[in-house]
Amino acid sequence: MDDFSFPTQLPAWRALRMHAETLRSLHLRELFEQDERRAERFSGETGGLFLDYSKNRIQLETRSLLVQLAQQSGLEQRRQAMFSGERINNTENRPVLHVALRNRSNTPILVDGRDVMPGVNAVLAQMRSFSGALRSGEWRGYTGKAITDVVNIGIGGSDLGGHMVCTALAPFADGPATHFVSNVDDADIAQTLATVNPETTLFIIASKTFTTRETMVNAHTARDWLVAAAGDDGAVEKHFVAVSTSAEKVQAFGIDTDNMFEFWDWVGGRYSLWSAIGLPIALALGMDRFEQLLDGAHAMDQHFLHTPMEQNLPVILGLIGIWYRNFFGYASHAILPYANDLRLLPMFLQQLDMESNGKRVTRAGEPVDYPTGPVIWGAQGTNGQHAFFQLLHQGMEDISGDFIVAKNSAFDLGEHHRILVANCLAQTEALMRGQTEEEARAALKAEGRSEADIDRLAPHKVFPGNKPSNTIVLDELAPKNLGALIALYEHKVFVQGVIWQINSFDQWGVELGKQLAGVIERELTGEKAAGHDASTQMLIKRLQR
Ligand code: F6P
Repeated sequence: MDDFSFPTQLPAWRALRMHAETLRSLHLRELFEQDERRAERFSGETGGLFLDYSKNRIQLETRSLLVQLAQQSGLEQRRQAMFSGERINNTENRPVLHVALRNRSNTPILVDGRDVMPGVNAVLAQMRSFSGALRSGEWRGYTGKAITDVVNIGIGGSDLGGHMVCTALAPFADGPATHFVSNVDDADIAQTLATVNPETTLFIIASKTFTTRETMVNAHTARDWLVAAAGDDGAVEKHFVAVSTSAEKVQAFGIDTDNMFEFWDWVGGRYSLWSAIGLPIALALGMDRFEQLLDGAHAMDQHFLHTPMEQNLPVILGLIGIWYRNFFGYASHAILPYANDLRLLPMFLQQLDMESNGKRVTRAGEPVDYPTGPVIWGAQGTNGQHAFFQLLHQGMEDISGDFIVAKNSAFDLGEHHRILVANCLAQTEALMRGQTEEEARAALKAEGRSEADIDRLAPHKVFPGNKPSNTIVLDELAPKNLGALIALYEHKVFVQGVIWQINSFDQWGVELGKQLAGVIERELTGEKAAGHDASTQMLIKRLQR
């Protein structure tokens, strides 16, 4: 097919549009009643992850039409193009090779005729040697003490992945304590510095570009704090390392390039936790566990590359998302981990998905006339149940969700885990089934309510149900299957971007605000504010100090 034709012109899109009409009036309850093998037909497993997608408004025909859509969209070719290092990020003229960072088979991946794997392996070796030295106490601070705390200073992709993984795998942590400072709000760094000791703290300045305003300001504040405590800037070399693509900028900041971990412009920020941006993970958990994370992601990459589409989990998740977004008009998708340690996953996936697929033109720059990336949001269960689930069950929005739950707990304290799992399954069932008026009345009657009470309360107790969800079951929350889970979502986002014919790997939309902030920053220091709308002008004046 033409590389840039609209998906809406594809035969499978038209067929799906008609097919959606037949499914619109069918309730999920009916779909389960019609097919006793439904759960088995719509589930799959790979790399320690089990996906049940049977609670979706789909039939076998839906799946096969969606797979046809993927084929007609050129998914196989685009997937091959990504894995083989083609410059699929066309607006930045870059390959997209986070898969090379976890290419555990070590087969060559060529960019402009050069294999990237020796560079990837060299940085992994550098991470192993540095994390080993720091964790063993061989690497010491300016007064000769071992490092007890690591503060990662970075934002967006240079923060969220490492922070999420360190939180998710906290039960495996046996190294220094990790802290993450991202916000330019001085509350963030001030409160973190108040908890650590300059003699025993290592700062990682994590920035692909080494120009991000928030990160640079925080890095300078941290440096000043250390130098003030140490008395001179000789301490910097023992307490600052950098992760970046720019050796010159790292050097200009005052960090020796011997203490720099390189990565490459073919790693997108939100796809970078597999690179040296994952250094806090290696320091907290050890390099062996970091490599297990890579192993899990690599296993998912192989699954994505080689499994037929109908059993290919990232393809299935991506296609189900397309089904709701484009054929049923769902505008948002919730991430609902029933694992407290996965509480940062919704935020991480928010960047991964929304920065990748929040686009309004095709790769060729033509405006699209169909919805693209949905709003991604969520929180850990069971907390979310007591906050926003009311709207999921009885609100007027249609919202799909992913429930993520582990079979085993790292702590296994009495009944906790059983209650957690029961709630997860109960919510997916309740969302799917709902409660009819008849059932609501019967329940009220069983409570001994009067007829008048039943009439009054029954409408409030009706749940429409038919609310779709996926359930992802992990054997346990461990490095390998967390790696697979993250890669599952990365490839899901890729699949959707291919179908929408957008570039999932640039992020021009964040630039305008950055430029304006630079101007307003100067105006807040007293420079005459000009060229703004009346509202912004008034607010600048009010906030000037
Ligand atoms: O502003 C968005 C963004 O460019 C993200 O894509 C990126 O992850 C983040 O800023 C941080 O960028 P850097 O690693 O260059 O500091």
